Amino acid sequence: MNNTIKIEVMRYHPDRDDKPWVQAFDIEWTKDMSILDALQLIKDEQEPELSYRWSCRMEVCGSCGMVVNGVPKLACSTFVRDYADVGKITIGAMDNFPIEKDLVVDVQPFIDKLESVNPYIVNKNRQPPKDRENLQTPAQLAKFKPLTMCINCMLCYQACPQVAITPKFLGPAATAMAMRYNLDNRDDGNHERYEVMNKKDTGIWACTFVGYCSEVCPKHVDPAGAVQQAKTVALPVWGLDIIRKKKKSEKQEQLS
Ligand code: SF4
Ligand code: FES
Repeated sequence: MNNTIKIEVMRYHPDRDDKPWVQAFDIEWTKDMSILDALQLIKDEQEPELSYRWSCRMEVCGSCGMVVNGVPKLACSTFVRDYADVGKITIGAMDNFPIEKDLVVDVQPFIDKLESVNPYIVNKNRQPPKDRENLQTPAQLAKFKPLTMCINCMLCYQACPQVAITPKFLGPAATAMAMRYNLDNRDDGNHERYEVMNKKDTGIWACTFVGYCSEVCPKHVDPAGAVQQAKTVALPVWGLDIIRKKKKSEKQEQLS
């Protein structure tokens, strides 16, 4: 069997290039070689300037997201052998984010979205039990546990056609994160999160339920499901807010 495969890698250097370009490499591959290993081999033996992001090498840190033959993938858990029949692998940056260099993208827009939904338990004057931890039943935990599996890899944002045309769209993982806390019985921060989710143009209503975000998610978080679940609660919250604001302004008119 011929164990040589062509790998075309997207290159971009902000100081030298007007736009990304493609560089081809031929490598000898082995059965256990991941895409991340292949990039490392290229960096060690052919192109030391090649930049890409990684850390854990085991689908935990979420930092090695890239586009492999057109599909958002984690480089550490995607294997060269699965492309042997095709004979060629193309690797690109997740270009729904600003590209910093080669395969490295700017994660700040994603971090800002996560922060906007208050990704922590909001406690409004609840007193925890004095003599024990704040326990949850298995049923209470089951409501949000799948959403805690997110590793913030951003593959769902690369898959989302709405993020591509509306970069400020809150998007799948941040909504899943919001629902992770909204469904937690220890939390009191739902209302503020639904306000963010209901924002015109950037909130969850921009989602057209293509569902590709859930298809590419390596942790089976089902962010598309979380967005649809959010919509069922966000709509009444939005309606009640309008009624509340209307009543408030009527009261102020009467007083003036
Ligand atoms: S929801 Fe899935 S695809 Fe999206 S960031 Fe989390 S782990 Fe990655
Ligand atoms: S290197 Fe950590 S998820 Fe791939």
